[in-house]
Amino acid sequence: MAERTPWQVKTLAQIRLDKFISNQTLLTRSEARKAVYCGRVAVNGEIVRLIDMKIDENAAKVTLDGEEISFEKYVYLIMNKPKGVLSATDDKRDKTVVDLLPESYQKRNIFPAGRLDKDSTGMILLTDDGEFAHRITGPKHHIEKSYIVGLDGEITDEVMVGFKNGVTLYDGQECLSAVCEKINSTTARVILTEGKYHQIKRMFGVYGLGVVSLHRERIGNMFLPSDLQSGEFCKIDPEALIIRNK
Ligand code: URA
Repeated sequence: MAERTPWQVKTLAQIRLDKFISNQTLLTRSEARKAVYCGRVAVNGEIVRLIDMKIDENAAKVTLDGEEISFEKYVYLIMNKPKGVLSATDDKRDKTVVDLLPESYQKRNIFPAGRLDKDSTGMILLTDDGEFAHRITGPKHHIEKSYIVGLDGEITDEVMVGFKNGVTLYDGQECLSAVCEKINSTTARVILTEGKYHQIKRMFGVYGLGVVSLHRERIGNMFLPSDLQSGEFCKIDPEALIIRNK
């Protein structure tokens, strides 16, 4: 990508006042306009009544009824996805991970960065930063993802060696080398560096094993916090998520 000139950087940070307010608060765009007209909004200490005034969203101090509106360019969350919930933004029939977020986040076009099957549980990242999502999910990046998998039969040495050598799925797709560590006779820790459709279920399927539970515990270097209950989420610092593998 071409380097941005300082002039371009400055231009990119400019945003209309009413848009800034509706992006960063629970107010709709028309409620934000009304708030400005009514003199409830100040920019850098001065009451303003121009809804189309351009402000620098990184630097301006905007208050609504005297309370500062904190500016978050992007939001980064991890959720403990419950069973039965889709890794999607919206769906006609089923609840999605985005439906579990409060309205203030739903307004921001947050989406899941990566997928877990409807019946899988555990760590899922949610953000409105497309570039960050691409770094997490892009096929070239090979970020480790670790899962605890319950099976309907015994995990044999053949399975563990097969995962290490790279499984060939029934449709001929070749999987990269993966870790399959036995926790007990029917429970494994599986570590993948790619994300094909239903990958773990199909990998075990090659050995005649069915997956009865699948829980993601880690993405990159970051574990799902143990106190995050099913359906709960928390904010993360995206810088803390080291993308390269351990
Ligand atoms: N592999 C699967 O089969 N399902 C998931 O949800 C994740 C990985």
